[in-house]
Amino acid sequence: MNFAKRFVCRKVAIHLSNSHVVSRSGNLRRQLSTSSRSMTVMPAWVIDKYGTNDVLRFTRNASFPTISYPNEVLIKVFAAGLNPLDVGMRSGYGAVTMSMKRDPLGMNQSSSEFPLVLGRDVSGVIMECGLDVKYFRERDEISLKPKSLSHTEAAAVPYVAATAWSALVNTGGLNKDNCACKRILILGGSGGVGTFAIQMLKAWGAHVTVTCSQDAERFVRELGADHTVDYTAGPVEEPLGALDKFDLILDNIGGDAERWALTLLKPWSGAKYVTLVTPFLQNTDRLGLADGMMKTALTVGGKALKHLASGVHYRWGFFAPSGPALDEVRDMVDAGQIRPVVEETFGFSQVPEAMEKVEKGHARGKTVVQVSQGGQDL
Ligand SMILES: NC(=O)c1ccc[n+]([C@@H]2O[C@H](COP(=O)([O-])OP(=O)(O)OC[C@H]3O[C@@H](n4cnc5c(N)ncnc54)[C@H](OP(=O)(O)O)[C@@H]3O)[C@@H](O)[C@H]2O)c1
Repeated sequence: MNFAKRFVCRKVAIHLSNSHVVSRSGNLRRQLSTSSRSMTVMPAWVIDKYGTNDVLRFTRNASFPTISYPNEVLIKVFAAGLNPLDVGMRSGYGAVTMSMKRDPLGMNQSSSEFPLVLGRDVSGVIMECGLDVKYFRERDEISLKPKSLSHTEAAAVPYVAATAWSALVNTGGLNKDNCACKRILILGGSGGVGTFAIQMLKAWGAHVTVTCSQDAERFVRELGADHTVDYTAGPVEEPLGALDKFDLILDNIGGDAERWALTLLKPWSGAKYVTLVTPFLQNTDRLGLADGMMKTALTVGGKALKHLASGVHYRWGFFAPSGPALDEVRDMVDAGQIRPVVEETFGFSQVPEAMEKVEKGHARGKTVVQVSQGGQDL
């Protein structure tokens, strides 16, 4: 997440700033924007080093983002959704990979990692388009925003929607036409990704079982879950093992779930276990990009082969920005099939409190920071 009043990033992202640069296709080509910009600074929450919440610093003089590639757009951020990854990145998690994404060709010798504006999920309005941008126009609400949502609600959507879509559709092979009669298990249904995934799968006709804390059971049932299992009541694999087997498991929790979860799948039927909790960023932080990616590939390949011998598929899921996926999500939201679950909203001056809340865990949907309202910074 980005704590500044500006927004710079490729693909779909959020920033704790009031402007941000995003591209829809992610193509990396050089330069330039359609117009010059008079603004040079903006208010932002930045960090000057990695650490605990104390490293967050508010400034009115953060550099205004610039369009560096012709497929980028500059966004005025109205609201930003927070994700566990933003808290992790504040502490340096994923720094190697994120630095590579910021400067993929290693061409920007002068660019320093700090001050760093965190963030990845935003809702806002396009201020300026790169020369190759055809899909968006100035004043568009990016991606485009569901018309039925406020910016605060919309900011709760992109990252979890793109992650759930990538895991369930691209990796899991599910879609609106093949979910009827499928039994899906979501490990950890009460947080950002889980609350979104439940609604998406129910809209597509799947039968959805969810693990969550006892106090979240009613909440996830209201989102459509057919069956809930309280993981705080004892080893969750026991009640889950007594149920009919599943076609797909989405694991938002990790830990020791890999030890027992794959036995809950229907063997030799194409059933898949997709986990979002992977060691990819730890590997690249520890070993560097090339060796980290190699280790990641070997680990996931080894596990996939091992489980294939038992007739089930083992996969890792990742956030993957996708304009077309977000367009389909927008239609589902506007059709009333999915609603963003905003658990708590914070003002822009309360970014440290918002981060603290996400860091404590126990999410029931999403935490959102309102960056500006009606064009006025908060
Ligand atoms: N690979 C990727 O690209 C990618 C992308 C997005 C997210 N992720 C990862 O996916 C996970 C979920 O993300 P999120 O944004 O949904 O997180 P979140 O909003 O923090 O939600 C986590 C939820 O899990 C619940 N929970 C904790 N322990 C549990 C357990 N043992 N069994 C069942 N529920 C449990 C929490 O509530 P209680 O503690 O109150 O039960 C909370 O509601 C995170 O680990 C995140 O880092 C990965």
